[in-house]
Amino acid sequence: MVPKKRGIIDKLYPPGPKPGARGRVKNHCRKFWWCDLLVFAIIALIIVLPIIYVAIPKKAQSDLNASTLEVTEQDVTSPSPDGIHLKLVTVARSDSSFHPTIEGFQAALSLNDQAPFFYIDVPETKAEAVTDIIVDQDVEIANNESFNEYNRVVMNSEYFNVYLDGKTKIHQSGLPAISVDYNKKVTMKGLNKLQGLNITGIRILQGEDNILPDGSNMIGNVSIPNPSVMTLALGNVTMDLSVDDEPIGTCLLPDMILRPGENIVPMQGHVEQITVISLITSKYNDAVLPLSIVGNSSMINGQHLQYYEAAIQSNVIHVDLDVGPALAELGLNLTQITG
Ligand SMILES: *[C@@H]1O[C@H](CO)[C@@H](O)[C@H](O)[C@H]1NC(C)=O
Ligand SMILES: *[C@@H]1O[C@H](CO)[C@@H](O)[C@H](O)[C@H]1NC(C)=O
Ligand SMILES: *[C@@H]1O[C@H](CO)[C@@H](O)[C@H](O)[C@H]1NC(C)=O
Ligand SMILES: *[C@@H]1O[C@H](CO)[C@@H](O)[C@H](O)[C@H]1NC(C)=O
Ligand SMILES: *[C@@H]1O[C@H](CO)[C@@H](O)[C@H](O)[C@H]1NC(C)=O
Ligand SMILES: *[C@@H]1O[C@H](CO)[C@@H](O)[C@H](O)[C@H]1NC(C)=O
Ligand SMILES: *[C@@H]1O[C@H](CO)[C@@H](O)[C@H](O)[C@H]1NC(C)=O
Repeated sequence: MVPKKRGIIDKLYPPGPKPGARGRVKNHCRKFWWCDLLVFAIIALIIVLPIIYVAIPKKAQSDLNASTLEVTEQDVTSPSPDGIHLKLVTVARSDSSFHPTIEGFQAALSLNDQAPFFYIDVPETKAEAVTDIIVDQDVEIANNESFNEYNRVVMNSEYFNVYLDGKTKIHQSGLPAISVDYNKKVTMKGLNKLQGLNITGIRILQGEDNILPDGSNMIGNVSIPNPSVMTLALGNVTMDLSVDDEPIGTCLLPDMILRPGENIVPMQGHVEQITVISLITSKYNDAVLPLSIVGNSSMINGQHLQYYEAAIQSNVIHVDLDVGPALAELGLNLTQITG
């Protein structure tokens, strides 16, 4: 009765010359070692393959998803109608135990749900807990309307999100390459409408000898706070000046470069002095004019930079400009003008 029940056992573990379980195992090992090895190998593969091809890639992707990207520096220089030079310094942070190498890849930059405005080349990176990734290249504008909108958003936002998307492979020694999606939302500070812009040290120029060759009859400085990490070469920027919707002149910020932090850039402009004087005598007797400043053009070597123009034209800046000191310097006594 016992042998019948143990049929398969007897086959795998035949009773050998030595009695008892020990002998059976010994016999089994002699006869079926290859079979066991195969079974072991298959079981190992069944366990290991999903780990290698499913669990690890999933872990790699989710660790990548959990990592963050911060832009610490963004320099936009050499602008032309078709593109710019971009230096982007970013810090990737991850608490993953993986420290793979991420292949270099092409990444699209876009605003949410919009066509990408740039494709950039992200270099090969060895991922650590904190990893600097630097992109430094000429980039062509991929889509003008998207780039215009991006610049409007940068100009008008305190914070904004930009999306970096690409596909790449990651390599961890001993493992096959793992294909991953690299999708990051990066939150950055914008220019916040250039809030806090002010005009200082304004002087009015009179007489052939003083008026500048381009006809400018007013000079001064413009102070502009830039809360972002961006350096922007904006070209020759012109602005339209008005008071109560009445144009009073234009100004030029030559070869303007906006750097992070407080900027003081020279300004020159042409103001209609008669209009200004009549505004002071009629309405603004204290000579403090509620000036509206709106961007007009951004030019480089005689060519328009439409993406910056889109941004500066979208933002109206209000400054209370005290022209009293400038008039006094000309010998014009306010109380005499305004009677
Ligand atoms: C990674 O994030 C994407 C969305 O960006 C999501 O579709 C995907 O399921 C995430 N993958 C893992 C493994 O968490
Ligand atoms: C964007 O506009 C510039 C000039 O305004 C033009 O030279 C360029 O081809 C345009 N680029 C695209 C991608 O449409
Ligand atoms: C702008 O500059 C003028 C002249 O320096 C100064 O009197 C004024 O307080 C400044 N305005 C602001 C809002 O900082
Ligand atoms: C403008 O700023 C420069 C540098 O800060 C300074 O030397 C110059 O005197 C300022 N000009 C005026 C008109 O205030
Ligand atoms: C820019 O200035 C020119 C010349 O002063 C003017 O004709 C034009 O309407 C202005 N454009 C904008 C958008 O303000
Ligand atoms: C800016 O304008 C000035 C004066 O019009 C000119 O000399 C200079 O070359 C221009 N700069 C650029 C980058 O176009
Ligand atoms: C301006 O003129 C008034 C009246 O003529 C005079 O009282 C005042 O002292 C003058 N102010 C200056 C700064 O010259």
